[in-house]
Amino acid sequence: MLNEKVKDLLNVQVNKEFYSAYLYLDFSNFYEAKGLDGFANWYKIQAQEERDHATLFYQYLHNNGVQVVLEAIDKPAVQLENLMDALKAGQAPCNRPDL
Ligand SMILES: [Fe+2]
Repeated sequence: MLNEKVKDLLNVQVNKEFYSAYLYLDFSNFYEAKGLDGFANWYKIQAQEERDHATLFYQYLHNNGVQVVLEAIDKPAVQLENLMDALKAGQAPCNRPDL
């Protein structure tokens, strides 16, 4: 039986991982529009990795009899204008103050 605080923290982490996936997909979308297919592909792969992390935590919770609460995924909180913006913003996507 998992400790209540651990359950809550892992559930929050599931949602953070999905937010990170969403953020990286936004970066991929940005670079795709700029014609930088390599950068777009790299961020698409990063998005997949974050979804994999979410799925691992999700499965771990279910394996311990805990139902996951899937919260809404926020719109990526970055404004992408020049080519360096995504690279700088991607350094710490989980460091959102509200999560
Ligand atoms: Fe992750």
